Amino acid sequence: MRSFEPPRRILMGPGPSDVSPRVLAALARPTIGHLDPAFQALMEEIKSALAEVMKAPGHACVPLPAPGSAGMEAALQNLLEPGDRAVVAVNGQFGERMAEIAARAGAEVARVDHDWGLPVDPERVGAALKAGKTKLLAFVHAETSTGARSDAGPLCALAHDCGALSIVDCVTSLGGIEVDAEGWGADVIYSGTQKCLSAPPGLSPFAVSAAARAAIDARAAPPRTWLFDMGLLMGYWGGAGGRTYHHTAPINALYGLHEALIALLEEGLAASHARHLRMHEALAAGLEAAGLELLVAPADRLPQLNAVKVPDGVDEAAARGRMLARYNLEIGAGLGPLRGRIWRIGLMGASATPWHVRLCLTALTDALAAQNYPDASRAALAAADAKLGD
Ligand SMILES: Cc1ncc(COP(=O)(O)O)c(C=O)c1O
Repeated sequence: MRSFEPPRRILMGPGPSDVSPRVLAALARPTIGHLDPAFQALMEEIKSALAEVMKAPGHACVPLPAPGSAGMEAALQNLLEPGDRAVVAVNGQFGERMAEIAARAGAEVARVDHDWGLPVDPERVGAALKAGKTKLLAFVHAETSTGARSDAGPLCALAHDCGALSIVDCVTSLGGIEVDAEGWGADVIYSGTQKCLSAPPGLSPFAVSAAARAAIDARAAPPRTWLFDMGLLMGYWGGAGGRTYHHTAPINALYGLHEALIALLEEGLAASHARHLRMHEALAAGLEAAGLELLVAPADRLPQLNAVKVPDGVDEAAARGRMLARYNLEIGAGLGPLRGRIWRIGLMGASATPWHVRLCLTALTDALAAQNYPDASRAALAAADAKLGD
């Protein structure tokens, strides 16, 4: 066996995204003990930076020691007890996963199913909430499997009006579009590090409101998860009364998250959102000039996840394979009912730059031309350049 040397890739799929050199450098700094006073100071900075980027000043904010699915599991397993009713909006793969975890927590799950590619419909969710005494509403803000964005504020308000808690999956939204836990009145939001935060995968930023913590404290029995039991975790991350050992924190991964948060706050949240939108507009213009269609209606599109319909007669896997082989560029395939029907092009964090947009249009139009699709590279690049304005 030899040391692993990964090939150099450009990551423009549904995540992970490119990790910037400053984050990679932070990850390689010397490991120290997880109860070292210097590490505890870093933990405090991470907590307050998370509260700032998630706009969750009154929530308890911590990074869970596992990828985005950990946030989903922690939220549902801490809040749901057997027999509770949970309304879960399903408009793609990750809503589906939420429904599955809620069922495993023993909840009675009321699914509100949507066609993939549509945003969550507040009217139908409102009706489902009113159909029975409900403990919580769970939905995905930015559905990575389709590229659809849902309007989180009104959905959280519907839950609140029915006396239910709200859980919002912000794995793909955080850093790329506005996330506002306090403004939405969301009880739990969680994210992942490998999307618009542009750190490696493996941590799940998590914010929990006072009302949600009270609900957890009032449980009849402890949650069935030990690692993600919020009561135990907060004893380690909480600070008050000193920290007690719970698990050995992924120390170097937290250096990386810390650096990624500094980079995001240096750029500014609004500037980061504007950059993602600008790159999306340029990419979408280029794709459309090449005769390609996006799956999601313009008003509901996520800038950071572009679902592109595969033209008739084109082998989608062969096109992705050529882009990887010739350009070292990774884009994503469709999932579930969209398998073989769409490509998913991510413009997330450090992968949302004019260079990425131009490279992707060049590589994709080349891959299409190789399958006898009319050569559209010049038209695509000209349309993107017109939006980029440089
Ligand atoms: C919306 C959404 N939720 C949850 C997850 C799960 O995150 P992870 O793969 O980091 O466990 C993903 C991953 O792509 C996602 O896009």
